Amino acid sequence: MNPYLKIHPINFIKGMSMALELTNIGISNHHCRTSIIAKAIAESIHLPQHELETLIYASLLHDIGKLAVSNEIINKPGKLTEEEYTLIKQHPYYSYRILQQIEGFEQISNWVGQHHESFNGEGYPYKLCSDRISLDARILTVDDVFCALTEDRPYRKMLTLEQTFEIIDEMTQNLKIDPNIYKYIRLYPDEVISLLENQRNA
Ligand SMILES: [Fe+2]
Repeated sequence: MNPYLKIHPINFIKGMSMALELTNIGISNHHCRTSIIAKAIAESIHLPQHELETLIYASLLHDIGKLAVSNEIINKPGKLTEEEYTLIKQHPYYSYRILQQIEGFEQISNWVGQHHESFNGEGYPYKLCSDRISLDARILTVDDVFCALTEDRPYRKMLTLEQTFEIIDEMTQNLKIDPNIYKYIRLYPDEVISLLENQRNA
């Protein structure tokens, strides 16, 4: 073993996160928040420890493919054009492509590649539906939507919990996300918020 190359996945992830933050301000915070919720959901549905750990790594990297999208589009304060939105929608595919290059990250790359799939088959980039989407990707999707809506974005301020639930409840009714996964966040909002508050104060 090369003594100069003692690398643990989390150290690699921290480095990637910093690189991503240079062009996508706020993304590390988003990744960090999603990792906290991913862990809580994974524990609540009793995922095996190795899968839980891998899911946390996936959550910390899920938007890495945004490196392939120009900063002007990512940080645009106004409404995206159709063409810009098409480019943004490529980012899960690039997350997959980037992480596929890393030996040992095959599972992570598959999950992050599916984090914008929709339970009803209307998501992107592959238009997979229901259990064709891996369980871990379905967790990431619910988690990502919840965290994104409760954060500031260049084009809007963070939503209240009430507004967030109103949107995700409707998504659930339209089967855009897996209702069984959303249940955890919906049933225990105080627990979820306090986990995120603890992270902010850490
Ligand atoms: Fe994303």
